[in-house]
Amino acid sequence: MPDIHDIQIFPNGDALAAHAADLFAQAARDAISARGRFTVALTGGSSPHKTYERLAQAQEIDWTSVFIFLGDERFVPYDDERSNYGMCRRLLLAHVPIPAAQVLPIPTDTATPDEAALTYAETLSHVFGQPSDGPSPALDLILLGLGDDGHCASLFPGMPTLHVTDRWVVAGPPGTLPPPVDRVTFTFPVLNAARQVVFLVNGEKKAAPVRDIFEAGAGVDQHPAAGVQPTNGTLTWLLDEAAASLLTKK
Ligand code: 6PG
Repeated sequence: MPDIHDIQIFPNGDALAAHAADLFAQAARDAISARGRFTVALTGGSSPHKTYERLAQAQEIDWTSVFIFLGDERFVPYDDERSNYGMCRRLLLAHVPIPAAQVLPIPTDTATPDEAALTYAETLSHVFGQPSDGPSPALDLILLGLGDDGHCASLFPGMPTLHVTDRWVVAGPPGTLPPPVDRVTFTFPVLNAARQVVFLVNGEKKAAPVRDIFEAGAGVDQHPAAGVQPTNGTLTWLLDEAAASLLTKK
């Protein structure tokens, strides 16, 4: 079970986004000074919107040294309004001076979602210089949202994708929540190999899964986000008051 001490609570979504943007900028500075580049996976959904809008104005980030990935994708064209990458591009990536070759979304123009998953694992393999049948690469930062049903990335309750240990990226059917389109997602081995994982969680619909994960011992099959516990990295849950409202041990 993730630890209650991993939680930070903010009065509202704006304060949460301001902190998340600072945290992103700090992670970028640390990674670039330690390793010369910053590898980060963005999340889809609506929770990160304010954070991305702030990051789009962040002058202090050296975007020329940033490599952008997506932790999961809906298998639709990038200009479809349901596309996670499309949203990230609109709110953030179109506004910052990042080299195009360093923006690495999950492909959605392959014949099948499975093929997209294999292709994306090869992209990771190439960027990290590690074979895709070996240990997972350690991204510097992975941002995640929490679904109202406890899912994260596109790892949905009760699905076989939750138990994949020998692939970095997998395809899956539509989840338990909309939109009802096929998904491609990082697996737990990649999420848990990250140097830093940060959940961005807003709104009262998240209050019950947050309580279940932190206080009722909900397991991975019930609330997949409970399975995110980086092996060597740090885990931070940023909640607004509404998402934290059912916690009793704040
Ligand atoms: C997706 C996401 C997903 C999201 C959660 C939370 O493709 O749907 O990546 O994991 O983060 O569903 O979504 P909201 O922020 O919209 O509640």
